[in-house]
Amino acid sequence: MSDSSVKKQPLLSVRELKKHFVTKKSFWGKPVEYSCALNGISFDIYPGETLGLVGESGCGKTTAGRTIMGLYKPTSGKVFLHGQVMDYSKGPDSRIQMIFQDPYASLNPRLTVGEIISEPMEIKGLYSQPGERQKRVEQLLDMVGLSREQANRFPHEFSGGQRQRVGIARALAVSPELIICDEPISALDVSIQAQIVNLMSQLQKELGLTYLFIAHDLAMVRYISNRVAVMNMGSIVELNDADELYSNPQHEYTRKLLAAIPEPYPE
Ligand SMILES: Nc1ncnc2c1ncn2[C@@H]1O[C@H](COP(=O)(O)OP(=O)(O)OP(=O)(O)O)[C@@H](O)[C@H]1O
Ligand SMILES: [Mg+2]
Repeated sequence: MSDSSVKKQPLLSVRELKKHFVTKKSFWGKPVEYSCALNGISFDIYPGETLGLVGESGCGKTTAGRTIMGLYKPTSGKVFLHGQVMDYSKGPDSRIQMIFQDPYASLNPRLTVGEIISEPMEIKGLYSQPGERQKRVEQLLDMVGLSREQANRFPHEFSGGQRQRVGIARALAVSPELIICDEPISALDVSIQAQIVNLMSQLQKELGLTYLFIAHDLAMVRYISNRVAVMNMGSIVELNDADELYSNPQHEYTRKLLAAIPEPYPE
């Protein structure tokens, strides 16, 4: 059997994942009204790839990311990592990390950048020998293009792009297998966005990272993704290779999203 005929095992498999939020409770505390954010979504992510997840505001992208992370308890459905079902009973699993949309809100303002990056290692008890953790922080700062001296500074002393670099360093600290990127550049100046996307691509190549990349912007997602899943009202309506999805969209909703991209798109 040649290599290409061996089917690759998915890194992550999501099966029939549902999440309802209780939006109204009775006087006795019994839930009486739900909003359905995830309608039972299923997809695989393969090692080393970027799967883009796109759709309009409110379609459930962040809910999908946070449920896969273990930050929300799923209403039903399962998530598998390397074919093994994820057990979120002890909280999130450090093999999956997240980069958040808003670098201003996602970093603790009272901690130095060094402390912010160290925190996940502390929680996991990694790099616990004297000096090891500091060395790891310095290595991570190098990797994301910040200087070692910046470890002693606080988030408010950094620009938006620099803060997102800190968020990336923190996500990388415990060598995760999957990084969920929830609109990591949409809060940044347009002039900075390309720098952060390029950094993420470069880190992916160097470290063999796998990304779930959430975005509104179909044009940007095409540039970074191998495959793209299109979400509408809590469901995935189409999933295909990025080029195929753009050149030959099958679903009406995908066509609608594509039509909304301003032409010509300044690459
Ligand atoms: N904590 C929550 N409690 C109740 N409803 C929620 C909660 N989080 C999300 N929702 C609802 O679930 C739906 C999906 O929201 P979600 O934030 O996942 O969308 P999104 O695709 O990430 O949107 P955006 O592009 O604006 O970030 C929305 O209707 C939202 O109001
Ligand atoms: Mg969101």
